Amino acid sequence: MAAKKLYIKTYGCQMNVYDSQRMADTLAPLGYQEINSPDGADLILLNTCHIREKASEKVFSELGRLRQLQEAARAEGRRLLIGVAGCVAQAEGEEIVRRAPQVDLVVGPQTYHRLPDLVTRALQGEEARRLVDTEFPPESKFDFLPEESRSAGAAAFLSVQEGCDKFCSFCVVPYTRGAEVSRPVANILAEAERLVQGGALEITLLGQNVNAYHGEGPDGREWGLGRLLGRLAEIDGLERLRYTTSHPRDVDEELIAAHRDLDKLMPYLHLPVQSGSDRILAAMNRKHDSAFYLRVIEKLRAAQPELALSSDFIVGFPGESDQDFAATLRLVTEVGYAQAYSFKYSPRPGTPAATAADAVPEEVKSERLAMLQQLLGEQQYAFNRGAVGKRMPVLLERKAKRPGQLAGRSPWMQAVVVEAPQGLLGHLLEVEILEAHPNSLVGRLVGLPEEEMVAPRMRTTA
Ligand code: 5AD
Ligand code: SF4
Repeated sequence: MAAKKLYIKTYGCQMNVYDSQRMADTLAPLGYQEINSPDGADLILLNTCHIREKASEKVFSELGRLRQLQEAARAEGRRLLIGVAGCVAQAEGEEIVRRAPQVDLVVGPQTYHRLPDLVTRALQGEEARRLVDTEFPPESKFDFLPEESRSAGAAAFLSVQEGCDKFCSFCVVPYTRGAEVSRPVANILAEAERLVQGGALEITLLGQNVNAYHGEGPDGREWGLGRLLGRLAEIDGLERLRYTTSHPRDVDEELIAAHRDLDKLMPYLHLPVQSGSDRILAAMNRKHDSAFYLRVIEKLRAAQPELALSSDFIVGFPGESDQDFAATLRLVTEVGYAQAYSFKYSPRPGTPAATAADAVPEEVKSERLAMLQQLLGEQQYAFNRGAVGKRMPVLLERKAKRPGQLAGRSPWMQAVVVEAPQGLLGHLLEVEILEAHPNSLVGRLVGLPEEEMVAPRMRTTA
């Protein structure tokens, strides 16, 4: 039987990237092989994101384009199935098949282990209306997913926790991803071992609120993220650990100690603060103020002096005054970020903040976003310039744009480009940083003998 072709288009966060890989794993036993473009596909899945504005509109316009592809396939006598997965699927459910009749099935983030069944039923001609599965089922999908069907590459992701119980007033995640659930330690260890056997040198643990992790340990007790990281660090051949995304309230002593004690835990942390104004943080229901956040960072930096920080910011939250915004700029100046993401507030239907009356005008949001991004950009560039002349291990995880170059990440998550033969892809190598750019570094490989450059045999580690 000829392989059927599967194309998955992924929107949004790394959790969605991970989920897309696992969706492909579930469909492999049905004979689906993943391809990199929608052309010629037998099944197209959109793995969607609902976190910020226009996400659903983007999905519906993409579905419009896919309809043409579906009709073209039909004209050739082929059937092209279209599925919508992810957080828009969860939020919109049946509305999707009502608005977009070309859609054959809809599956939420917690039920994609049921994809093979949904796809089989769609192929048998069952109505799309009956193929909308957005339950939060009592069983965990992880108990039903097949083992990973491919090598995930040198830098792999591993989902350890999903959902969120924090209910920040602007955020859809607690509604689309549901309550916090942690995978058992044994389960995670087994997946990590397989990833390392498949060539992974780095694993990034994923969760919407990853440091709220509280999975069942092999001793029957609840383990936190710090202890889990400590256990993972014992895996031979695994060189680097990261985790994302964290909440300041859930940084506990064990996690801080992990940053002090584990050489494999990279000195980089994405710790969103959202705002520097205590009034806005309270309105956001963040459950911490700016002093608390700064204290957490102080403790982390005391444990790991090399720690580089990243964050998320929202500007123009309802009621945000010039003074509130100034407090955000002050906090950024005080912390000094290696990089950060910043967004204009957008009301998400169903969240408490969406009905707040005192909206900030669009122009003010744009102005504040530009000012914040200017400051964050300067900090990032300064951080990058500080790397020039230093040597650091870089995990060469992908081809760079130019031929003859590979790209990877520094311990501090900076993108580093080097001249290197393709054979060094997937290696962790010492690099001397020659140049800094606002968003990347340029370096050269050091310490490799000439013949090694031509015919790499060994893997060098930091
Ligand atoms: N508007 C703008 N940004 C948002 N984020 C989450 N919800 C919203 C929203 N309604 C941002 C937060 C979060 C990141 C993933 O997306 O900064 O940390
Ligand atoms: Fe959303 Fe993060 Fe707040 Fe949870 S902690 S509600 S995922 S912003």
